[in-house]
Amino acid sequence: MSLISILVAGSINMDIVSYVYKHAVPGETVQALRTEHHAGGKGANQAMAAMRSGASVTMIGAVGNDATGKSLLQELQQGGFSTGHICEKVGLSGMAFITVDKAGENQIVLSSGANAELTIQDLEMAFSDTAAFHGVRMLLLQNEIPWELNAYLIQTARRLGINTVFNPAPALNITPEMLRQLNTLILNETEIAAITNRQIDSYVQAEEAVKEIAALGVNEVILTMGGEGSLYYNGEGRLIRTKAFSVPTVDTTAAGDTFIGAFAAASCTDMEVEERLRFATAAAALTVSRQGAQISIPLRSETVDFLSSTAF
Ligand code: RIB
Repeated sequence: MSLISILVAGSINMDIVSYVYKHAVPGETVQALRTEHHAGGKGANQAMAAMRSGASVTMIGAVGNDATGKSLLQELQQGGFSTGHICEKVGLSGMAFITVDKAGENQIVLSSGANAELTIQDLEMAFSDTAAFHGVRMLLLQNEIPWELNAYLIQTARRLGINTVFNPAPALNITPEMLRQLNTLILNETEIAAITNRQIDSYVQAEEAVKEIAALGVNEVILTMGGEGSLYYNGEGRLIRTKAFSVPTVDTTAAGDTFIGAFAAASCTDMEVEERLRFATAAAALTVSRQGAQISIPLRSETVDFLSSTAF
């Protein structure tokens, strides 16, 4: 796989993860089996997944000037990232309070912290470093930084002829105008239900929903469905269903992020679409079988080994 350049502008969080036997219902207190801190954030997770999948990645984001911010920066540096375009904001870093149950399913409460303080001026300042952004071929975005920044970035990318891959998580403030400007939209069942106002209980409903979004002008729509795999639909009417690999589910946190980062990296190569989907599905399977967010994301070599040793 050749080195390609992806720009990720997105969130950086400290995940405070409590492993529980079962999730609490409203009004209930449950005891954690144990609690761990892991570097996370959808932006940083997807950036890490794209980089570990073979892409050259530049990340723009923000952390707080607290101890958490320092340790998040350190994790990114240890992961191989240049943190030159990560701003330090006065106040707390982003945090995600996560519970993971016995089945590996998670629930997340997000506290934006410094992610909400990132500004268009910060983006412009980053872009003035032309050397760092030379050769960017893809923009990868999520929805954990202020909405107006994503709108600005999507428009800028379109003007420059750069493809945008967008993960509308959480699915807030998504407009048809904005969707029309995207090349690729990757989302899960909750997000597609929020955007289309459709209940997704069956494969047929999932198919109708991806087609509805593609009809707005999005070139590629991918619905990720956990253990049910994914559904891909493109503007040429091509529908591909990719089955998930069967792996022991330890922690689903960052599985979607791994799929997205790996798919983005593979999309900048000459891999066929089925191959890109299979690669992303395998990377996500490895993440599901490990604990934590960034720490669970596989290297390209691990994904390739897994693909060659596992029946599909
Ligand atoms: O997608 C998983 C991520 O969502 C976590 O790492 C958490 O930080 C939240 O942003």
